[in-house]
Amino acid sequence: MTTHRIALYPGDGIGTEVVDATVVLLDMVARTTGRFALAYESFDWGMPHYERHGRVAPEDFLTTLRPFDAIFLGAVGWPARLPDHVTLTPLIRMRQAFDLYACVRPARTFPGVTGPLRRTDPIDVVVVRENSEGEYIDNGGIVAAGTPGEVAVQTAIHTRRGVERILRFAFDLARTRRQRLTMITKSNAQRYAYVLWDRVLEEIAPQFADVQADKLHIDAATLELVRRPHTFDVIVGSNLFGDILSDLTGGVTGSLGLNPSANLNPERRFPSLFEPVHGSAPDIAGRGIANPTGAFLSGAMMLEWLGETDAAGMVRQAVERALAAGHATPDIGGTLSTTQFTSAVVDHLVP
Ligand code: NAD
Ligand code: IPM
Ligand code: MN
Repeated sequence: MTTHRIALYPGDGIGTEVVDATVVLLDMVARTTGRFALAYESFDWGMPHYERHGRVAPEDFLTTLRPFDAIFLGAVGWPARLPDHVTLTPLIRMRQAFDLYACVRPARTFPGVTGPLRRTDPIDVVVVRENSEGEYIDNGGIVAAGTPGEVAVQTAIHTRRGVERILRFAFDLARTRRQRLTMITKSNAQRYAYVLWDRVLEEIAPQFADVQADKLHIDAATLELVRRPHTFDVIVGSNLFGDILSDLTGGVTGSLGLNPSANLNPERRFPSLFEPVHGSAPDIAGRGIANPTGAFLSGAMMLEWLGETDAAGMVRQAVERALAAGHATPDIGGTLSTTQFTSAVVDHLVP
């Protein structure tokens, strides 16, 4: 029997709550299939670690994570107690140091969940986010801090190699789906970075002639995702655009609590990272009402990445059946706690 070694980084706020729930579900799936085991090691990085050691993660945390088969993260951030750019640094470091350049964020509607748009057409999109460079590169500085003349400079870096590999990844994904790709740009105002994106799209699109490719400026994309979300298939964009649009696709499909993500190193030179799209949700943390669906589906993406395709399908199907049967946490109009909803999903597992 294969044992997959998983590093757990529950983090802060509801991060710990949804990770606990996911471990319950994945362990049950592993036992039910009888074909693999998951060996977890959990790290208390985030606020708890900061309070004891004065830093959110040990200096060598990347070395610690490197040998694992995958990393599973809950959420990081506790803005009332520590500035976000401190708590969140390890997450961005993992994505960049492990070259997790393909961030895959599916969002779909589920029978049983009513979204805010009151539409009946099903939504089924995947946001593919460039995850290793762009606007998230740590490059800049502040001059004359705290004075009226203070100046902040932050420079994004977009490389041809980075843009091309994420576009190719997104085209390949579109080929396995409905063969539609929309690239997000803002080349009407940002005359260098997104003009490069436009040019690379134009160059490689002919190699994927079976995929219908187009592009939209980010502002137009936010409008169209509200007006006609069901028409999108694969959306690909830069680090920041992908971040913003994946909260929007969460919103239009019913709740950010439903959406999973995978941060992949497609070449498998480093462990990939799986996490729900949402954050630590301080407004509901500690109340036991977080929706663990996004974390469950991130668990399914992790199982699939580890080669456990049947087990991944079991998780997805159990989530769909539980939601269709009306089981729901408060964010999607129900009354169940995280634990009660988890039990409902476990009850809907079909071997
Ligand atoms: P958030 O995603 O934590 O919450 C936004 C809203 O969605 C809140 O009203 C919250 O209650 C709700 N929500 C989110 N997940 C939910 C779930 N699973 N079930 C039910 N409701 C859910 O975003 P925020 O409030 O802007 O950020 C809070 C903190 O999390 C900040 O520190 C932020 O930087 C951080 N953050 C971390 C990640 C991550 O770890 N990947 C992602 C986004 C934000
Ligand atoms: C996400 C989050 C992160 C991001 C934050 C926590 C740094 O919003 O994963 O979507 O901006 O990438
Ligand atoms: Mn985000």
